[in-house]
Amino acid sequence: MNYRIFPKTGEKVSLLGFGCMRLPVLDGDHTKIDEVEAVRMIRYAIDAGVNYVDTAYMYHGGKSEVLLGKALKDGYREKVFVADKLPLMFLKTSEDVPRLLEEQLTRLDMPHIDMYLLHDVREKSWEKVPKLKVLDILKEKRAQGLIRHIGFSYHGETTAFFKEVIDAFPWDFCQIQLNYMDTALQAGVEGLRYAASKGVPVVIMEPLKGGKLTDVLPEPIQRYWNDIDVKRSPADWAFRWIADFPEVLTVLSGMSTFAQVEENIQILSNADANALTKEEHSIIGKVADAYNKLTPYACTACKYCIPCLVGIDIPGLISLRNEATIFESAEKVSFSIRNFVRPVPSTCTACRQCEEKCPQHLPIADIMAESAAMFEQPKQSS
Ligand SMILES: NC(=O)c1ccc[n+]([C@@H]2O[C@H](COP(=O)([O-])OP(=O)(O)OC[C@H]3O[C@@H](n4cnc5c(N)ncnc54)[C@H](OP(=O)(O)O)[C@@H]3O)[C@@H](O)[C@H]2O)c1
Repeated sequence: MNYRIFPKTGEKVSLLGFGCMRLPVLDGDHTKIDEVEAVRMIRYAIDAGVNYVDTAYMYHGGKSEVLLGKALKDGYREKVFVADKLPLMFLKTSEDVPRLLEEQLTRLDMPHIDMYLLHDVREKSWEKVPKLKVLDILKEKRAQGLIRHIGFSYHGETTAFFKEVIDAFPWDFCQIQLNYMDTALQAGVEGLRYAASKGVPVVIMEPLKGGKLTDVLPEPIQRYWNDIDVKRSPADWAFRWIADFPEVLTVLSGMSTFAQVEENIQILSNADANALTKEEHSIIGKVADAYNKLTPYACTACKYCIPCLVGIDIPGLISLRNEATIFESAEKVSFSIRNFVRPVPSTCTACRQCEEKCPQHLPIADIMAESAAMFEQPKQSS
């Protein structure tokens, strides 16, 4: 395994981190983790040198933390950094902060968490942080030894806001979404470099875009990968693209099968910073261009269309609708919309006021109707 240095303590962190958000499940039910297989996968990864594991309060309907606690019995706890996250979305009062942390330590069945993140920082959720004195409370918890390092995971809309958050506190680390298709989304490459320039190491999430870069390859993409001389799996290319940034501390992958654990260990044991050649960068750039050409609706996320009268996140939903086609990932998009997106597209009243403001003249009400039909019903199992 390759390692990078955590600047605050000089400790070594494995370049591959185990994300416990997409563990193997039983009966297709994400709240029913296949415990035997998940424990086997996590311990195999640790035995192979992985020393960073990431979970959160709500992963697998609250079962991920419990599973991780079980996986780390028998001497495994001492070998890893455990990352867990304070769910900002559930905070109503300052008292919720210690209460949730206690609950998480109980679920994990361990006395402390190494890396504690504010979960899902974005423009709205960040407002609670000063209001409820969240960081003051976390500093106390750090002094008491219940958490070792304080960070945040970011899903805000802009790089500018990410920079504001970076500058707002002496963070020990942060976590951002990054892959070769999302170079300018949320924090983006610019945010990665900004954080590093301020001495804040960066943990990467969604390096394979939640599996969309590897699941079903549209024909032009498959053709492109087949035609190039350097033979690597799509996952291999995507991980190497991230490992190339020296600013990256560790790359989290939510591995769902044992074979993925084996492959990702292999890849990130052999991927160095600044190792990709100009030709290799150009190959990845061409794949990204080929994906972008498959985009059905040319939304530029200028946001002229919002606020929507019923509160729909129009650019966010169009982006998901586009992703369903670009990555042939309708099922994954459907899961996201049903579980995380509010209001859902069927809330659209077709008032079409947004369409009058859209510089791209997109038929937004029709896209919402199409999205409702495509994504709001769970897939019937046959
Ligand atoms: N803080 C936050 O707000 C936040 C948000 C997102 C994620 N995270 C954390 O970051 C971690 C990583 O994000 P992610 O799970 O989205 O990572 P990811 O690596 O982008 O996606 C994981 C998915 O990629 C596929 N995959 C993994 N290895 C593969 C391989 N070798 N070959 C082919 N496909 C492969 C699998 O999809 P299939 O199951 O379809 O095969 C797997 O479920 C999460 O697990 C979680 O711990 C945090």
